[in-house]
Amino acid sequence: MNKSFENEIRKSVNLKNVVCFDSIPSTNDYLKELAKSGENTVTLALAKTQTAGKGRLSKNFVSEMGGAYFSLLFFPDLKAEDGYLLTVLAAVCAMETVEEISGKKCLIKWVNDIYLDNKKVCGILCESATETKSGNIKYAVLGVGINVFSSCITESIKDIATSVFNDRKYDETEISKIISVFCNKFLQGLETLSDKAFIEKYRKNSYLDGKEIQYVKNGQIHCATVLGIDDKCRLTIEEDGKNIKLFSGDITIGKNFKK
Ligand code: BTN
Repeated sequence: MNKSFENEIRKSVNLKNVVCFDSIPSTNDYLKELAKSGENTVTLALAKTQTAGKGRLSKNFVSEMGGAYFSLLFFPDLKAEDGYLLTVLAAVCAMETVEEISGKKCLIKWVNDIYLDNKKVCGILCESATETKSGNIKYAVLGVGINVFSSCITESIKDIATSVFNDRKYDETEISKIISVFCNKFLQGLETLSDKAFIEKYRKNSYLDGKEIQYVKNGQIHCATVLGIDDKCRLTIEEDGKNIKLFSGDITIGKNFKK
């Protein structure tokens, strides 16, 4: 990767440890290995493309040239049970970053996808390891994939995904700007994680509110209406006249008929 790009990022995020790749299987996997081998400094890894980009729930994440694919290794002072706050903070920071750069309103599709013009523009995958004795998080790797230019929207995802710029040519400066805006917001947010103002922002910008959805539980398709997001960031839904809270899951929008 060209050195000026690397230096630009290093300067703008004010981090000593920045590792750039033209291509790598997955920036998340790279940093998890680094953490396992004893790295204890905050590190940013980014790549122009990934050959095995990972999404949530073991899905793959298309990572063609034109996107911002990056991960942060960091060491939050947090109990494992509060680990969800990292994803919530990341979702709010990603939403604000894309809004700032695109000049358009974005929303958060629970749990952690960012939507622009009714399509996914960004996905987030937070992985962490826990200290067994204390129950504290030992390290966390936060991976973010933002579709910046339309070149990264392949045929296979064109119906569900969009990019920040749909009509502009690939420009490394925009990619480095997006990465640094996000990282600065997120690293600053980590410092004030206890004030939880970001939870309100997460709840107020929910893409799913009022929508008919489907989710799968124990191999069965469930249909429900989304009521909102509660103060612990669980999705509150109404299903067969009952209010239910979901802790995690993969939500599909639209009505279907139970079989
Ligand atoms: C999702 O959409 O389910 C989450 C996608 C997360 C993708 C990012 S790209 C950088 C980092 N490396 C990966 O392999 N995944 C994350």
